[in-house]
Amino acid sequence: MTEILHPPTVDLDALRASIRAEYAAVASQPDRGFHFHTGYRLAAILGYPQEWIEWLPRGAALSMAGTGNPFALGDIGQGERVVDCGSGAGADALIAARLVGPAGSVIGIDMTPEMLATARSNAAQAGLANVEFREGLLESLPVDTGWADVVISNGVLNLVPDKAAALAEMHRVLRPGGRLQAADIVLERSVSSTSKQDVSLWTGCIAGGLLADELVALVSGAGFHDVELVRGGDVFAGAPQASSAADFGTRGAGIRARR
Ligand SMILES: C[S@@+](CC[C@H](N)C(=O)[O-])C[C@H]1O[C@@H](n2cnc3c(N)ncnc32)[C@H](O)[C@@H]1O
Repeated sequence: MTEILHPPTVDLDALRASIRAEYAAVASQPDRGFHFHTGYRLAAILGYPQEWIEWLPRGAALSMAGTGNPFALGDIGQGERVVDCGSGAGADALIAARLVGPAGSVIGIDMTPEMLATARSNAAQAGLANVEFREGLLESLPVDTGWADVVISNGVLNLVPDKAAALAEMHRVLRPGGRLQAADIVLERSVSSTSKQDVSLWTGCIAGGLLADELVALVSGAGFHDVELVRGGDVFAGAPQASSAADFGTRGAGIRARR
């Protein structure tokens, strides 16, 4: 538990620069081939309904880079307000905007300018007026306190060194009773403190992962109730570039909780 109480001492600026570079490439060269699956292949692995994927603008679908499906963790209804933390090229935010309809609204937050530009262009192509994308960090979300009915996230929490700060922000922006539906990863084996310094292991969604018990404890510690971990499958096997994910027993996982 020590690692999560005291975030690892990876150089934060270097880590953020590497994450931005990696995900700028996912936005601008989605076919390049990464250490993780992306795009249509990923959407099929994660079980997104085919109809949603066909509806998405091609650019949004091609740059999908999550580790799960936040919509499988709970329903999202008409008129609701949703925040997508680490919205990437916007696929989940666009799907959420369709689910909430014109009476609802969605805010996507991301720290990578290329992802934000792609997401805005995808929203315009989809003709959606109820979704906006804001530049920001999970650790200090640019969203009003208590604004959201639902916070979703997909493949992002593992990339954040100070997960307690990110979860505290997710808790802050939710209204009382609001829901957290976060797809992420869990590890079957702890990452050594040496590997935790390896920025390339972070950007590939490995070194920043937690054991299942650690993740649940952290979410509960942020003040969430009814915290439930939903285990997923191996979302890295067969990725275009070799990944060390299997060495750490990295699996997809979802967290469902209530504020
Ligand atoms: C693995 S991608 C997932 C993108 C999207 N959720 C999806 O499912 O396709 C991670 C995204 O999180 C963003 N990100 C990583 N750390 C972040 C942070 N601390 N604050 C805001 N965005 C962050 C990256 O810029 C990237 O777009």
